[in-house]
Amino acid sequence: MPSTDLPLTALPEYAALERHASLVRHWQLRELFAQDAQRASRFTLEAAGLCLDYSKSHIDAQAIDLLADFARAQQLETLRDAMFKGEAINLSEQRPALHTLLRVPRGTRFMLDGVDAAAEVHRVLDQMATFCDAVRSGAWKGYDGQPITDVVNIGIGGSDLGPVMGVHALRPYAQPGLRLHFLSNVDGHALEALLPALDPRTTLVIVSSKSFTTRETMANAHAMRRWFLQQASEQDLARHFVAVSTNADEVARFGIAVANMFPFWDWVGGRYSVWSAIGLSLMLSIGPAHFRDFLAGAHAMDEHFRTAPLPQNMPALLGMLGYWYRQFFHTTSLLIAPYHQDLHLFPAWLRQLEMESNGKDVTRDGHPVQTPTCPVVWGSVGTNGQHAYFQLIHQGTDLIPVDFIAALKPMHTHIDQHKMLLANCFAQAEALMNGTAGQQLPPHRSFDGNRPSNMLLMQQLTPAALGALLALYEHKTFVQGILWNINSFDQWGVELGKTLAAQIQSELDDSATAAAHDSSTAALVARARAALK
Ligand code: F6P
Repeated sequence: MPSTDLPLTALPEYAALERHASLVRHWQLRELFAQDAQRASRFTLEAAGLCLDYSKSHIDAQAIDLLADFARAQQLETLRDAMFKGEAINLSEQRPALHTLLRVPRGTRFMLDGVDAAAEVHRVLDQMATFCDAVRSGAWKGYDGQPITDVVNIGIGGSDLGPVMGVHALRPYAQPGLRLHFLSNVDGHALEALLPALDPRTTLVIVSSKSFTTRETMANAHAMRRWFLQQASEQDLARHFVAVSTNADEVARFGIAVANMFPFWDWVGGRYSVWSAIGLSLMLSIGPAHFRDFLAGAHAMDEHFRTAPLPQNMPALLGMLGYWYRQFFHTTSLLIAPYHQDLHLFPAWLRQLEMESNGKDVTRDGHPVQTPTCPVVWGSVGTNGQHAYFQLIHQGTDLIPVDFIAALKPMHTHIDQHKMLLANCFAQAEALMNGTAGQQLPPHRSFDGNRPSNMLLMQQLTPAALGALLALYEHKTFVQGILWNINSFDQWGVELGKTLAAQIQSELDDSATAAAHDSSTAALVARARAALK
């Protein structure tokens, strides 16, 4: 596994990049367009059914070449190939990161530790499909003989965000009459809000947890089990509770039979797991055939990422552009603006993907990083954002790059509204770039412009397009991890808070002895104990 002890900034490729960036930083985007009538086509790329226009960025062909040289010096291509081959690129946990294997076509052979892992992937997909067909057709009955009407996915982080986002994004493909619910937060208010809508006789619960030890998920799973057993008996559980996990022992301990468990593998990271059995709720909603289209869209993007030269490689470009702005323009956040209502949870999914993957301050070799790493990723759907925080994007003092995402054709018949939506999307990108140059306006009404954005278009938000979109950002995240020389596939930064929460939870019990804390934490614990007496 290649790696280097040299700080990235010591590489000659970095010095060349920095030199060029110091010039480019002063360029005006609108002048780049004025100088080159071909700029839009020069910096637009199509792959796996997606179209990326990155021309409204402070780059020229030389910048792209220098970024690609730097990425090659960072062994991006070698590490990309190592990822696809199943080498243990997750160094701190000594594991492969093989989410790409979850979407290979049937018939692919991929030996991992003496087992054909691709065949295993398809065996589980078939198990999922059989189960989903039975539930969707009504053949799978609840304990009193009625079909399932409500599905509750209990899971958090990657065991929630991928499926819930996918179910919303592919709403037009949903099975009529099958309601999907997602319970993630340990907050009892979430449970309280959900339960009145459910009838235990017609509710299916999917407990989704890679580890099957995540405290929030287990608390919600036990609460749902108690709720179910108020009306049903233990032997009815098998018709209503299934599990998705890598941990068969814990699943059995919870009381879910192996026949009702959908497995996946430790080489699937939580935030990369929607393609695995973690996507069971999504498959229930859209059906096995559409789920396979979703996987095929991702596979098409995988093939593009695996084979296209870096300057024409969409995930590499998106990653390199993000690096360019973070490193040389000192941007601290990235706004994700989907102009598609059904993608309203996409920014939340992406937030975990990028920030849990690349929010790190230690290199793959265990040294402190020398450069800034992941920016804050945030956003919400257009046009809502325009009437809330776009003021700051246009006239605020920070430079915030934007990724606009839109579908050219809607899945509805309100064409005038769709035209209005697209017009707003394109207008925002144009306004950010051009500002009010050339107009005589008072200072508070003038816009400097020169603010960058990417425009990512698809024909329609189909399962395949969604698959390609998610895979694009997964690989973009990987590319940036390589450029920052960090391990994108672990998440040790979440552990300390988990340990302390477990300890403090025991102290909230009035009979417990409070441990030594700083005076602030101690006072908070005392207040809560008093309130909960
Ligand atoms: O605490 C972080 C995390 O491990 C995420 O990486 C993961 O997606 C989430 O918790 C849920 O984990 P699990 O699927 O094991 O319940």
